Amino acid sequence: METLIKKAQTTHNLTKEEIKALLDYDGRNDFLFEAANEVRKRFVGDDVHLRALIEFSNTCSNSCLYCGLRVQNQEIERYNMEPKQIIKIAKHAIELGLKTIVLQSGEDKVYDTETLCEIIKEIKKYDVAITLSIGEKNFEEYKKLKENGADRFLLRIETTDEKLYKKMHPAMNFENRMRCLHDLKKLGYEVGTGSLIGLPEQTTTSLAEDILFFKKMNVQMLGLGPFIPNPQTPLKNEAGGSFELSLKVLAISRLLLPLANIPATTAMETLSSNGRRLALNAGANVIMPNFTDDNYRKNYNLYPNKNGINVSTKESFNDLKKLIIAFGRTIGQDKGNSRNVNDQQTYN
Ligand code: 5AD
Repeated sequence: METLIKKAQTTHNLTKEEIKALLDYDGRNDFLFEAANEVRKRFVGDDVHLRALIEFSNTCSNSCLYCGLRVQNQEIERYNMEPKQIIKIAKHAIELGLKTIVLQSGEDKVYDTETLCEIIKEIKKYDVAITLSIGEKNFEEYKKLKENGADRFLLRIETTDEKLYKKMHPAMNFENRMRCLHDLKKLGYEVGTGSLIGLPEQTTTSLAEDILFFKKMNVQMLGLGPFIPNPQTPLKNEAGGSFELSLKVLAISRLLLPLANIPATTAMETLSSNGRRLALNAGANVIMPNFTDDNYRKNYNLYPNKNGINVSTKESFNDLKKLIIAFGRTIGQDKGNSRNVNDQQTYN
């Protein structure tokens, strides 16, 4: 294993079989995590970039088998924040020093493109980056959002295994999701994708293919986390993904995509009390503190016990910063743009 890891550390390339061998290895993974930490430090430095997450709506017309926001779930109260309210939360985060605002929602038609553009324009009056995480749209919609100031877009592929994708996402279309990712790249967004780790029937071969897909797409951001069974979904009795396997996928992804911005995701924190710290020490360089008001946040339940770091007050935000510094890291002071320039030529 050490030879493989050293190879990845210097060449940033591994074959599918090599990735699978690392994922299947059931001994201690310290060497892998240390290598990923070294690559993280060498390529993107010690800065931890903070992104303010605003979950502005939980209505969704999709039926993803694993997700608590699926349209069939009648046990949660649905909400759609008013544009004014979204802007107010964004301003509060900006006042606390956040330089990236992430606007996330279920997939729905509640907010038309014009409304979203108005929200974006208002937030862009301040010197911040805007990341959207609002699902599948057409090229023209993505284009308008970009022209009005959106900088980045997160759209997880969830799994590159087409058969599994179809099972997990009835009525959705794998080709269309791919089309979205390519459109976003073409339009010059910083693009983020990622996978759920530990979906039912998912194999380590399939996870190895996911990692190679991230590399082929040369994405700027990667969101990775364990699948956590939600009792309000059809997958309630499934096993769920393991923390260790998720951490390995994260570490190998860092070795292969040295310049990517990779968060210590909420799902990682939910599975292990030390999750954030372990992720930061195995390749992650981003944290997305949650700014959604508590009364809404309780209904944004993708999965149970969804933690998320609540830093909505100045004191709690300062505590988070202190924690990061205590880890031996620094706080990113700028927007934390990706240093991996979007290779648009490939996509034009
Ligand atoms: N467990 C873990 N992650 C989940 N997501 C949705 N449902 C779950 C779950 N049960 C993730 C999806 C989506 C992101 C916003 O939340 O990967 O892209």
